[in-house]
Amino acid sequence: MQDFICTKTENFPDSGSVCWTSPSNIALIKYWGKKPVQIPANSSLSFTLNECYTKTKIDFKKSAEFKIKLFVDGAENVEFLEKIETFLTRIKQFCPYIFTYKLSIHTENTFPHSSGIASSASGMSALALCLISIERIACKLSENEFLKKASFISRLGSGSACRSIYGPIGVWGKHPSFFESNDEFAVAYNSIHPIFTTFQDTILLVDKGKKQVSSTLGHQLMNNHPFSELRYDQAKENLEKLKKILTNGDITSFIQLVESEALTLHAMMMTSSPYFILMKPNTLSIIHEIWEFRKSKKVPLCVTLDAGANIHLLYPEQVKSQVLEFVEDNLVVFCENQQYICDSVGNGPNLLMEHYA
Ligand code: DP6
Repeated sequence: MQDFICTKTENFPDSGSVCWTSPSNIALIKYWGKKPVQIPANSSLSFTLNECYTKTKIDFKKSAEFKIKLFVDGAENVEFLEKIETFLTRIKQFCPYIFTYKLSIHTENTFPHSSGIASSASGMSALALCLISIERIACKLSENEFLKKASFISRLGSGSACRSIYGPIGVWGKHPSFFESNDEFAVAYNSIHPIFTTFQDTILLVDKGKKQVSSTLGHQLMNNHPFSELRYDQAKENLEKLKKILTNGDITSFIQLVESEALTLHAMMMTSSPYFILMKPNTLSIIHEIWEFRKSKKVPLCVTLDAGANIHLLYPEQVKSQVLEFVEDNLVVFCENQQYICDSVGNGPNLLMEHYA
């Protein structure tokens, strides 16, 4: 952690602009349960997405007094500003230089705000990448140091955000089988069978409303959960199994493991105290339709879910047209306003522009 404290004060630009896009991600091995501050109770692994991303631009200028303005989709926003201020206070010890500037932040998502898709992973990682870009210039960070620190800072904003720094796969949390994996930032994982680089994620928007129970509370409820230790051990074993599957391209085992992880996540919610259910009746209808389709048509596809009611339908590109036809014919009726989003595994964030003076 000490490595991430920036003690340098000279060579920082007087002003400038920097703009990044950073994607959302979908966990295959789920992070659920944490210790202060944002230390995961188990390691997790996710596919980085391609189409669902946040674009964030920061204009900054040296200022005697720290000031910050936030614009979401072009309009000044106070609600999210508070969240960002809390985040900046949390990272102050690691990035004190931020407080020597006046910041103007413009941010927008490619996916609708009220889609039930969490924007914290893409939003926090895009913001972290912009902030650490300023440090990269002043401290001459190598590419590797830059990405590590951006992931570390993203994690302090939202745990799952730290995995978005890398595509096609990010792994977060110490695990004996993943080189350099650790609890403080995510690492990239690229040793995968080519089939997984073509994976599609069709996100079926079952419920676009705000969740009744936040992830923050859900994580907390793992602390006194009767099955938490078993779950953490299982996640560790599942990650080991998934590593082998990702190498050998065994889609049947992939399907079984990924669905089991998603259902276990929701089983943890249903067995916590207080218990809660985030799936909706249409979530279950979709799962049953998919299982039936898979069995009868022998199409390799599986479902996973985040902490919400929406379904992520994962499958290799080679069956895309068949799956999308099935979605149109059988699943859109269960989606709110018949909406779904077509995404796929992506390569991670992109720097769109940087300019320093
Ligand atoms: C179910 O990363 O949103 O999506 O660290 O409190 O911001 P905070 O939680 P968050 O939790 C994500 C939980 C999950 C599983 C996952 O993405 O691994």
